[in-house]
Order: sequence, then structure tokens, then C-alpha cells
Amino acid sequence: MEKLYEGKAKVIYPGPEAGDDPLSGQSPSGPVHPRVVRVYFKDDATAFNGQKRAQIAGKGVVNNQVSAALFRYLEAHGIPTHFVRQLSEREMLVKQVQIVPLEVIVRNRTAGSFARRYGVEEGRVLPYPLVEFSLKNDALGDPLIYDDAVLALGLVNGSELARIKELALKVNALLKAYFAQRNLELVDFKLEFGRLLHSAAPADERGAIVLADEISPDTMRLWEMGTGEKMDKDRFRRDLGGVEEAYQEVLRRVQAEPSA
Ligand code: TMP
Ligand code: ASP
Repeated sequence: MEKLYEGKAKVIYPGPEAGDDPLSGQSPSGPVHPRVVRVYFKDDATAFNGQKRAQIAGKGVVNNQVSAALFRYLEAHGIPTHFVRQLSEREMLVKQVQIVPLEVIVRNRTAGSFARRYGVEEGRVLPYPLVEFSLKNDALGDPLIYDDAVLALGLVNGSELARIKELALKVNALLKAYFAQRNLELVDFKLEFGRLLHSAAPADERGAIVLADEISPDTMRLWEMGTGEKMDKDRFRRDLGGVEEAYQEVLRRVQAEPSA
């Protein structure tokens, strides 16, 4: 099967053929049917900009299902996402987007690169959630980037930047509450946004910003409430052991009825 794109953890395949478009019929009046693509979640894991590589058995299944559940939850609470539906254990159908080349990170506690960069201990509660951007560019090691540079480089325009920050903070509030009900603390996470591609939109017209990519234990830090035990990809990055078990446990909590 022809690949549209292959990244470190996912492969993008063309969606169903035109005429077999599961979204057609949703907007019978207009030619603006979003194009759809299939996302396949691999077990491949990398860290430190691809320097550390391994497979985490079952990771793709967990990340697909966790992402699907979170996209559904966020959509139900007013966040526009690329998600259409889950297709199989490892695949979901999503609206095709042009990815904005920014990693949008929200932090509730100090951890990871933030703690290292500023020389503070991990785990300090921040007085308010921080939104941080990195340029999505593996060759450059995803460098931190600030608003003025984002705008000067034309990566997004001013209204897109404001919208991305607004959505990132809303997603944080929603996901914090979601995981708190599952006895997990959302320490930080990375989001990616895209512009919806409509078959009928002029090439120079920028599509609406939607949440894209994935939201999974690969892209979040989740700490067990009370003990602070790490339940995310830091188990792999830091060789803590119990990697597969932590991913499975996050999926189990996501699928469980909330406790509060
Ligand atoms: P950081 O503290 O290493 O900058 O990571 C912040 C959050 O972003 C953390 O939840 C892990 C996530 N993340 C990714 O999803 N992809 C990446 O490439 C990196 C470096 C971090
Ligand atoms: N996924 C990123 C990479 O390979 C880094 C990370 O998540 O730590 O390089």
C-alpha cells in the first residue's frame, strides 16, 4: 500500500477512494468535503531526536486507542480535531491537514527539558500552565522558538497563533480533569495542530486550525497521583523498566469508567 508519509511512530496512508468518502453527506450543500487519510500507529519508539530506538510491544495499539478516546472526548467538549473514527486496533481515519511545523507544549509542573534548561528540580507546580513552542525540525533538534520568530518566519499568522494558544490551554484544562478522574496527573504534553485541507479551497487560503497528530503516553507526562510514579514514555527514555506495563495501564484507565 502506497504511503503518503512515514514518521518515527506513525505511517499515513491514503484514505478511502472518492465516492466512498465516509464524510460525504455530512455537508450535502457544499463542495467542501474534507479529504481523509488513514493513520497507522507503529510500535517503534525513539527518544533524544532519534538517537535511542527500540520497539515497545503493543505501543501502537495503546496510542491509537488512547488518542481516539481523547480526540472523541475533546471534540465532545468543543475542541476541533482531525479525528473521524477508529478503524482498527492500530488505525484511525482522520481529516487530512497541513501540519503546522510547531510542537506546542503545555506544562503544569516542571519536568524534562524545562527543568534541565532552567536548572530547576522536576515536579515543581507551576503557578499557571505554560505554553511553549518548538520548531518541528529533526535536523535542528526541534529548537525552542518564541512568538516573534514564529510570526516572522510565517509559520502561522497572528490569529492562528492566538487560536493555537487558546486551544492548547483549553485542551490542558480538559485533559487535566480527565486524567485526574483516573488518578493520573497531567504534568505536561505536546500537541500538534494542522490546517484543514478542503478539496475546494484555493491554494492560498489557509484552512481552519484543528488539533492533529496524536495524544498518547508518547506525547504526555502522566504521573500516578500520590506516588508520582511515571506512567509514560519517560520509562523508556530513562530506562526505568515496566514500559509496556505502563502503556497498558494508561489504556486501561482511559477505558475504565471515571472514578469521580
Ligand atoms: P520535554 O520536557 O522533553 O520538552 O517534553 C515536554 C513534553 O512533550 C513531554 O510530555 C513529552 C513531549 N514530547 C513529545 O511529544 N515529543 C518530543 O519530541 C519531545 C522532546 C517531547
Ligand atoms: N520522539 C522524539 C524523538 O525521537 C523525542 C522524545 O519523545 O523524547 O526523537
